[in-house]
Amino acid sequence: MRGALLEASEKPLVIVDDIDIEDPRAGEVRVSVSHCGVCHSDLSLVNGTFPFVAPTVLGHEAAGVVDAIGAGVTSVVPGDKVVLTPIPVCNACYWCARGEYGCCVNAVSISTGTFVDGRTPLSRQGLPVLRGVGLGGFAEYVITTETGAIKVAPDTPLDVACVIGCAVQTGVGAVLNTAHVPEGATVLVAGAGGIGISIVQGARVAGATTIIVSDPVAERREMARRFGATDVIDPTSDDVPGVVQQLTGGIGVDFAFDAVGAGPVIESCIWSTRNGGTTVMVGAGGIDQTVTLAPPVLFTLTERKLMGCLLGSSNGRRDIPRLLALWRGGRIDLESMITARRPLAEINEAFADMTAGIGLRTVLTV
Ligand SMILES: NC(=O)c1ccc[n+]([C@@H]2O[C@H](COP(=O)([O-])OP(=O)(O)OC[C@H]3O[C@@H](n4cnc5c(N)ncnc54)[C@H](O)[C@@H]3O)[C@@H](O)[C@H]2O)c1
Ligand SMILES: [Zn+2]
Ligand SMILES: [Zn+2]
Repeated sequence: MRGALLEASEKPLVIVDDIDIEDPRAGEVRVSVSHCGVCHSDLSLVNGTFPFVAPTVLGHEAAGVVDAIGAGVTSVVPGDKVVLTPIPVCNACYWCARGEYGCCVNAVSISTGTFVDGRTPLSRQGLPVLRGVGLGGFAEYVITTETGAIKVAPDTPLDVACVIGCAVQTGVGAVLNTAHVPEGATVLVAGAGGIGISIVQGARVAGATTIIVSDPVAERREMARRFGATDVIDPTSDDVPGVVQQLTGGIGVDFAFDAVGAGPVIESCIWSTRNGGTTVMVGAGGIDQTVTLAPPVLFTLTERKLMGCLLGSSNGRRDIPRLLALWRGGRIDLESMITARRPLAEINEAFADMTAGIGLRTVLTV
């Protein structure tokens, strides 16, 4: 099959047409990918932020049509439209039993580029090819577990719905699932990319009344306003915690979401929250980033909180239909998030746009 291959970090991806993909095994589904969004987590593997190990097909924000199913698969049949989730949970482990889907132990493939057992269904010229960031959606076909391919209504536009897979599951989920933001809350979102804008949309759905967005790119701040931000801050010219204090009557926000992944941004989120407030770390920075809590006693005595967040603590089977229903009801806007559409062959241009902060989300036609 045809796909975009990352062969070495800090090199452009190459389009090849000789990737081999297995037939689905028991409990697996093979999907013909129609569209795949470009996320910063893909870019972080290309630009060397995340360590890179072997030839990889990136892409983890995809939708398509079921091509073949393995033994025992009951929730989809060939021909069904599906939205794919990059972190399919098992619904059976210690954490899933407690509804803590972000910690599912059988969904760890995101860091290894393989299934949990270390296997990859992809190869090229007899050598293994990894399925990057849990999926490998920048290729004509993917294989995933049954819980990774969520059946959607036949009239679902896949070129729009694909962004649910990562950006919207992550951003809206961070608000509704991870943080449980209540109605009337005050919220800060640092970083207005696809993830940050989805957090803004989630905050609106939750009924937050103050939604402050900080981003150095003016166009992104304007976009954030259109998606529901009540106030915007340029972190290159303003002191974010100071402005947040002013905007919240000297209290600080109830919740701050980092959608950047840089240590200093996380620290500024923490000190933008009120006493007892919660910071949610959604951005995924390089392993060189550090967060300093100085003095820690101030964090202790003010009862602040700090949370991690993987894919919005989502369970695709619960959340993808829920997010599509919110979209159909006009509560979240997916179309306006997609600011560029390109063929798969223009993947390197899509990464260049993301690096330069041009537009918001690019969706590739696979
Ligand atoms: N936790 C998860 O499960 C998860 C899921 C998806 C993506 N991510 C991570 O989320 C982050 C955002 O992804 P994205 O696709 O939205 O990226 P993006 O590149 O589209 O957006 C990042 C935004 O951050 C802004 N920014 C940069 N420096 C900033 C600063 N100092 N203060 C405020 N804003 C700043 C940029 O201008 C840009 O608008 C990435 O680190 C990505 O890897 C995490
Ligand atoms: Zn992503
Ligand atoms: Zn599990």
